[in-house]
Amino acid sequence: MESGKWRTLLGLLPLLLSFLFFYFDISTKPSTSQCSLISHSHFWIASKRIVTPKGVISGAVEVKGGSIVSVVDGDNWRGTVKSGRVMDYGEAVVMPGLIDVHAHLDDPGRTEWEGFPSGTKAAAAGGVTTLIDMPLNSFPSTVSEETLNLKIEAAEGRIYVDVGFWGGLVPENAFNASALQRLLNAGALGLKSFMCPSGINDFPMTNSSHIKEGLAVLAKYRRPLLVHAEMEQEPENESDLEDGGAESARSYSTYLKRRPASWEEAAIRELVSVTKDTRSGGSAEGAHLHIVHLSDARSSLELIKEAKRSGDSVTVETCPHYLAFAAEEIPDGDTRFKCAPPIRDAANREELWAAIMDGNIDMLSSDHSPSAPELKLFTEGDFLKAWGGISSLQFVLPVTWSYGQKYGVTFEQMVSWWSEKPAKLAGLNSKGAIVTGNHADIVVWQPEAEFDLDDNHPVYLKHRSISAYLGTRLSGKVLATFIRGNLAFKEGKHAHDACGVPILAK
Ligand SMILES: *[C@@H]1O[C@H](CO)[C@@H](O)[C@H](O)[C@H]1NC(C)=O
Ligand SMILES: *[C@@H]1O[C@H](CO)[C@@H](O)[C@H](O)[C@H]1NC(C)=O
Ligand SMILES: *[C@@H]1O[C@H](CO)[C@@H](O)[C@H](O)[C@H]1NC(C)=O
Ligand SMILES: [Zn+2]
Repeated sequence: MESGKWRTLLGLLPLLLSFLFFYFDISTKPSTSQCSLISHSHFWIASKRIVTPKGVISGAVEVKGGSIVSVVDGDNWRGTVKSGRVMDYGEAVVMPGLIDVHAHLDDPGRTEWEGFPSGTKAAAAGGVTTLIDMPLNSFPSTVSEETLNLKIEAAEGRIYVDVGFWGGLVPENAFNASALQRLLNAGALGLKSFMCPSGINDFPMTNSSHIKEGLAVLAKYRRPLLVHAEMEQEPENESDLEDGGAESARSYSTYLKRRPASWEEAAIRELVSVTKDTRSGGSAEGAHLHIVHLSDARSSLELIKEAKRSGDSVTVETCPHYLAFAAEEIPDGDTRFKCAPPIRDAANREELWAAIMDGNIDMLSSDHSPSAPELKLFTEGDFLKAWGGISSLQFVLPVTWSYGQKYGVTFEQMVSWWSEKPAKLAGLNSKGAIVTGNHADIVVWQPEAEFDLDDNHPVYLKHRSISAYLGTRLSGKVLATFIRGNLAFKEGKHAHDACGVPILAK
């Protein structure tokens, strides 16, 4: 052979080798990163129940470099893959990771309530792969570019799941379009405001003028406004406000009477007069209004349904605690159950279930809103003094599934409420579904496995004792949580490093 040909062949050698390496994937050395409990970055997650937008399939999800690179229906892929690269979960359910659009992690500034490390470890253990942090209960509140940057700094190297941030719409910034633009340009995924006192002094409530101004700015960014929809009303019966003394304050019904469904209805009536502007051709076209944690399944829900029928860009979430608990069942003095809006009666709970089952309520969120135990539990059972907020982030998957059994909840509905719709709301285009090209954010869980949420159950939240779910028996055990291809949690163990990333809107 002529030397020229040798040279050509030698020249081709690197190409040939790289092809071989690529083809057999022998180039992936065990990773030295401690983001994952496995060393491969190219592997297959196999199961007989994989929940995809095309239905539940038996097959495999191929993960490479943090993304889903193929979704295979059937068994044909098996012969082509080395067994060491297959994580076969048998009958366990493989679903997109949950996206919680409503969590208060209280970091920076009130980390004695929760904080990024404990909150996101609990999220990973519960199958939540992304959460969006609320702009209040941390200190300072996230109401400007500067305060959003404090959040992003606090998250650095301390989050075990991906975390996005809502900014706050407050009277101070609502009439200042450039301040809102700076907050949105810095990456806030949208804004959040209150129509009643928030319980936090540096997060004052907004009125409908502020909300209109906020929607006008958000329209250009095509990002949502989330609203806590309760408006204080004159009591229908003055005796509901009478101070019945310490005994009365230990009764949940005393608290419930002070925050009746008419508060939600009044707020939503005002909101739907503003959401008209979001219709096509309206002055706030492109903006979207999302009502958080709906509790009243009656008049309030009717108003939302009517707005949707008229073409308003509006969605609504409820939370597992409104679906799991009923006012009549809350023991005297058990302030773990206090939240706002309040948990209502059992008949209302049935109507909430009907509304989520038929799609009139769009999605679920945790509204994980913890506090230090002193504020929540040690108020001598006084519902009027205790902190209002339910601690739930780690448990929302088994809670939704367990309490939903009676109503015939399907895996597809779980994905719709907890992944697809939340991803759409927050503008997360690469998350929320098991499809090629998306981030490999995946939860593997056993729906049939039951467990007691008792004192022996590992809880990663900062304060175990404040959760209203403690002492319940649940079904649905999380086996593994993958975040962008990293096995971040597996049966009682987290990856060493906190490798979640902040999600900033562009
Ligand atoms: C609007 O906000 C900016 C900060 O983004 C501030 O510098 C400015 O003074 C504010 N304008 C008014 C009128 O308050
Ligand atoms: C809302 O409050 C602002 C003051 O921050 C006030 O100027 C405005 O008139 C109020 N709008 C309504 C509808 O009450
Ligand atoms: C107001 O509440 C009291 C105590 O619950 C009750 O006796 C009374 O009938 C109520 N009045 C009205 C007008 O509903
Ligand atoms: Zn909240």
